[in-house]
Amino acid sequence: MRLTKTTKSAVVIAATCIAGSSAEAAQTVGFIIELETTAASVMSEVHSSFHRRAASLLNTYTVRHEFTNTDYFFGLSIEGAEEADISALQELPEVKRIWPNRVHDRPMQYGMEATNSSSSPLLENPTRSRFLQPRNSTTTPLPHISGTSDVNSSLKMVGVDELHKLNITGKGVKIGILDTGIDYTHPALGSGFGPGFKVAGGADLVGDDYTGMNMPVPDPDPLAKCLEGGHGTHVAGIIGAEDPEGVGFGLIGVAPGAGLYMYRVFGCFGSVTDDVIMAALQRAGEDGVDVISMSLGYDSIWEAGSLYEPIFNALAAKGVGAVVAAGNSGGRGPYFASEPSLNPSVISVGSAGNINFATLYNAVDSQGKEVEYASIIPLEDSGVHHVATITPEPSWCTLNDMKQAVEPFTDKKNVILLVPNRLGCYAFAQFSKETGVTQIWQDTPDGVDFRVEPPGAAYTLTPISSKTLDMMMEGVAQDGRNYTLSFKDRAVHDAEQPTKGTMSSFSSFGPTMEMSLKPQLTGIGGNILSTWPTTDGTGYAIISGTSMSTPMMAGIYALVKETNPHLSPREIKERLQTTSRPLSELADQSLLSTPAQQGAGLVDALRAVQSIGTSVSPSELSLRDSATASTRKITIENHSANTQTYVIGHKGAAAVDAVPQFHVENKNNIWRWVANAAGAYASSEALPKSVEIAAGAKATVEVTITPPKGLEISKMPLYGGYVTIKSSQGQEWSVPYIGVPYSRAEQDTLATTDETLFKPVDQPEPPAGVPVLPYLFNSNSRKRNIGIDTYTFGGGDGVAMRAVIVQPSAYMRIDVVAANVDFNATHPGFDKEEVHDLRQPKGLDLETLDNEIGVRSYGALQTIVGGHNMPKFPYNEWYWRGYGDYGLWWTDGVVGLMNGTTYAVPDGDYRILIRALRFGQDVNKAESYESWLSPVVRVEKAGSV
Ligand SMILES: *[C@@H]1O[C@H](CO)[C@@H](O)[C@H](O)[C@H]1NC(C)=O
Ligand SMILES: *[C@@H]1O[C@H](CO)[C@@H](O)[C@H](O)[C@H]1NC(C)=O
Ligand SMILES: *[C@@H]1O[C@H](CO)[C@@H](O)[C@H](O)[C@H]1NC(C)=O
Ligand SMILES: *[C@@H]1O[C@H](CO)[C@@H](O)[C@H](O)[C@H]1NC(C)=O
Ligand SMILES: *[C@@H]1O[C@H](CO)[C@@H](O)[C@H](O)[C@H]1NC(C)=O
Repeated sequence: MRLTKTTKSAVVIAATCIAGSSAEAAQTVGFIIELETTAASVMSEVHSSFHRRAASLLNTYTVRHEFTNTDYFFGLSIEGAEEADISALQELPEVKRIWPNRVHDRPMQYGMEATNSSSSPLLENPTRSRFLQPRNSTTTPLPHISGTSDVNSSLKMVGVDELHKLNITGKGVKIGILDTGIDYTHPALGSGFGPGFKVAGGADLVGDDYTGMNMPVPDPDPLAKCLEGGHGTHVAGIIGAEDPEGVGFGLIGVAPGAGLYMYRVFGCFGSVTDDVIMAALQRAGEDGVDVISMSLGYDSIWEAGSLYEPIFNALAAKGVGAVVAAGNSGGRGPYFASEPSLNPSVISVGSAGNINFATLYNAVDSQGKEVEYASIIPLEDSGVHHVATITPEPSWCTLNDMKQAVEPFTDKKNVILLVPNRLGCYAFAQFSKETGVTQIWQDTPDGVDFRVEPPGAAYTLTPISSKTLDMMMEGVAQDGRNYTLSFKDRAVHDAEQPTKGTMSSFSSFGPTMEMSLKPQLTGIGGNILSTWPTTDGTGYAIISGTSMSTPMMAGIYALVKETNPHLSPREIKERLQTTSRPLSELADQSLLSTPAQQGAGLVDALRAVQSIGTSVSPSELSLRDSATASTRKITIENHSANTQTYVIGHKGAAAVDAVPQFHVENKNNIWRWVANAAGAYASSEALPKSVEIAAGAKATVEVTITPPKGLEISKMPLYGGYVTIKSSQGQEWSVPYIGVPYSRAEQDTLATTDETLFKPVDQPEPPAGVPVLPYLFNSNSRKRNIGIDTYTFGGGDGVAMRAVIVQPSAYMRIDVVAANVDFNATHPGFDKEEVHDLRQPKGLDLETLDNEIGVRSYGALQTIVGGHNMPKFPYNEWYWRGYGDYGLWWTDGVVGLMNGTTYAVPDGDYRILIRALRFGQDVNKAESYESWLSPVVRVEKAGSV
C-alpha cells in the first residue's frame, strides 16, 4: 500500500450543511502562533530562537506579521507551511498556543448578505465604481436637504439628545474604529485627518487592494473613497457626524465631541484575516483610545480558548473598552452571536428598529397626486418621468417582460419601471444594462420596513408602499403612456417604521455555547441614516445591522466615560446594562423579548450617565444548565446622600427553542429558524424581598430563580428574564438572566428521529430498533444501506452520509473503522443480530494506523471543529459551528491519517464511525462522545475483481 502525503487538492469529500451556509465554514491563511514570554530573558530573542527551531521542522514558511508588544499579544502569524507540520511546532519551548488564521467576510448591511445576489445591485457589480475618480468635493458639493424629517430620531430613542443639550458630547474621549476605512474629506466628518481634526488618528493596515487572501500593504492613511468601502464611513458618522450649515440633513452623531481613530482592516473588496484584526486592536491600544468600536465578526459560537482572549484581556486591563457587533444572523436562532463579540471582556451589541424611516420624498403624478417614495436624496428634477408597467401580469416574470415594458419609451433615462413585488421579477442589473433604465420601483409589503441601497449602485431599486403602488398602477391603467411623475418637490419627510423600538429580526441571538449572555445590550441599528463616501456626490446612506447599533453603543460609552472618567470598562458596562430598558416582542407587546437576543435591553444613555445614585452588580446572570432552581447574589450600593429602600422584583421574558431551525414545523423556510417566543416564565424569589440601605452603604440580596415548567427539552429551550430593583425614589434597575432547564451534556447531539423537511432518502426503512438517523446511502442509487452495501468508488458510486446535529458539538470526527470493531456505539446504525461474512482489507496493518480516542481507525473522512484548541487533522478539518443538517459524500475512497498521510482504502469491509463530543466534556476521553456506528461498507473498487 502506498501512503502519500496530503496535498490540498486531495480533498474531494463534499461536506455540506444543508441548513447552514458556506459562510459558516471558514477559510484560513496560515496560522497564528502565540509565543511564551518566559522563553528568553531578552524578549526580542524569543522570535529569533523560534525561527531557528521552526526552520528545522517546517520546509518553508513566510512570516506575515510579528506581534512584539508583550503588553498585548506576543507571537506571529505565518503562512506557507505544510499543515501537517504545524502540530510539531506545538512542542517547541517558545510556543504557547497555535490557532488557524481564519478569513472573515467584510461587514455588510443587513439584507445584502441574505438576498439573492441578483436583486442586490452592489453585489452584482463588484468592480463597478472601482475606477471612479474621486471628485473634488468643492466641484461637486454634497446635497443640502431640508424638510420635516426627524433625521436624528435614533438618538432620541436612547436619550442621547438630552445629553447633547447638557453639552455632553464625548469631549476628550478617543474612540477607535476597526472598519473599511473612512472618507474624512466628508464635511460632516471634519474634512481632514490628523491631530486637531475630528478624525484625529488611525491607520490603513491593509491598502485598497487587500482582499483577505493576499498580503496587506499598510500605509498611515485610513482614507477610503471607494463606494463599496462605505461601511466604515457610515459607522464613523453614527459616532461623530456633524453636518455643517448648508450641507446634508442636519445629521448629528452620538458623540460628536469625541476624537475618532480609524483602523482600516478591509480593502475596497473582500475579507480580512485574524492577524490583521489583532494588529489593528494592538495599534488602537498603543494609540491610547478609550473605547474600540468593532462592527465586524463571524460565526463561531464558543467563547473559551478564542484567539482574541489575550488581546481583549490586555486591552481591558489597560482600561480600554471594546464594543463589538453581535451579528446579523437572527434568522438562524439561538447560539449564533458572532466572534469576537463573544469575548468576556467586550460588550456585544444587538439591534432594534429605528422609530422612523428618515428619507421619504413626494413626487407629483400627472393627475396631480402625491407619490411617496424612499430614496436617500430626491430624484433628479429632469423633466417628466414616464412610468412603464408589465401588462398583462405574467405568472413568471422574465427579463424579456421587463424589456418589453420599457420598449415604447424613447427617453430611457427618464423612465421608471414599476414592478409589483408579487411578480417576483429579478435580473434587474441585466435589465438596466441592456435598456439604460436605472429607476426600478417596487412596493415593500405592509408591515416590513423600507430598505434602500447605499450610493454607487448601477440602478436604483426604489421602495414605495403597497398603497402607492396601487395608486400608480391605477394611474397607468387610466392614462397609459401619458401617466408621468415629476420631481420638483425637494423636501424630505419621514414615516414611522413597522418595527420601531423592537428587536430587529436580523439581530443575532446568543448566548455563547458556554452560556454567557451575548449580546449584552441593544442599540438602534435598523435603518440608520449616516455618512457615506462623497465619491459620487451623494455622501449619505441608510443601512441596517448590528454594525450600526455598535457604534451607537461605543458613542454612548464615550458619553459615560466623559462624565465618569474614573469608571473601568466593566463598571461602564454594568451601568449601561442595569439602566437599560427591556424591549417587547413586535408581535406581542405584553411579552418581553428573550435576553438571548436583546441582552439587558435598549440602552438608555441619559440614565447611564446620570444614574450615579445607585449601582447594581453583577449586571447579568447566567444560570447555565439549570434543571432546578439556582441562587445568585446581587449587590446594591447606595451612592446617594439619603437612606433608600430597594424592592426586588422580577419580569419574565420569552422562552425560545433553539432547535426549530430545520424542523417540519418551520413551514415557511427550511433555511431559517422559526421564531417561537413563548410566555413561559421562570419564577424568582428574593431574600430579602426589600432592603433598606443607608447613604454610602451596600447590601447583598439572594435571588433564587426556578426555571419554567412545560418546556419541551428536545427542542433545546432557553428561558430568561429580568430581576428588577426599584428604589424608594422610583428609579428601577434590572439585571437580565438566562439559562436552559436541562443539562446539555445529557442531551443528544445527533438526532435519531428525522423531523426535518429535507428527506433525500427514505427507502428502505431501517430494521426495527435501528434509528432513522444518521444513515448511509449510495450516492448513485440513493438507496439506504440497512446492513451491508457495496460501493465501487467509480462513476460517483460512493458512500453518502446524512446526519442531523441538534446541539452544537465542539469537536466531531468521522472515522473509517474495521467492520468487526469492538465498539459499543451510543446509537448502533444496524441490527446487531445480523451476521455478515466479513472481508478483511488486505495489505494494511490496522495496529500501525491511527488510534484516536480509544478506537483504531483506517483514517478519518473529516473532523468538524466548533470550539477552539481542538486536535488538528490536516487532511480535512472543517471549522463549522456544527448545528444543522449535515451531509458528507465519500466518492474517492480516500482517507486521511492524523499525520497528514492520505491513501485510498483497499477492497474490504469497513464501518463508518461518527463521534460527537458532548457538551462540556474532555476531548481526549472516549466516554465524552456520543457515537453512531454504520452498517457494513463493502469496498469493491471497479475493475478490482
Ligand atoms: C481637484 O482639485 C485639484 C486641486 O485643487 C485640481 O487640480 C483638480 O483639477 C480638481 N479636479 C477636478 C476633477 O475638478
Ligand atoms: C455648552 O457649551 C457651549 C459652548 O462651549 C456654551 O456656549 C453653552 O453655554 C454650554 N451649555 C451648557 C448647558 O452648558
Ligand atoms: C395621451 O395624451 C394625448 C394628448 O392629450 C392623447 O391624444 C392620447 O390619446 C393620450 N393617450 C392615452 C393612452 O391616453
Ligand atoms: C461492548 O458491550 C459488550 C456487551 O456488553 C461487552 O462484552 C464488550 O466488552 C463491550 N465493548 C467495549 C469496547 O466496551
Ligand atoms: C503517517 O503514519 C503512517 C501510518 O503509521 C505512516 O505509514 C506514515 O509514514 C506517516 N507519515 C508521516 C509523514 O509521518
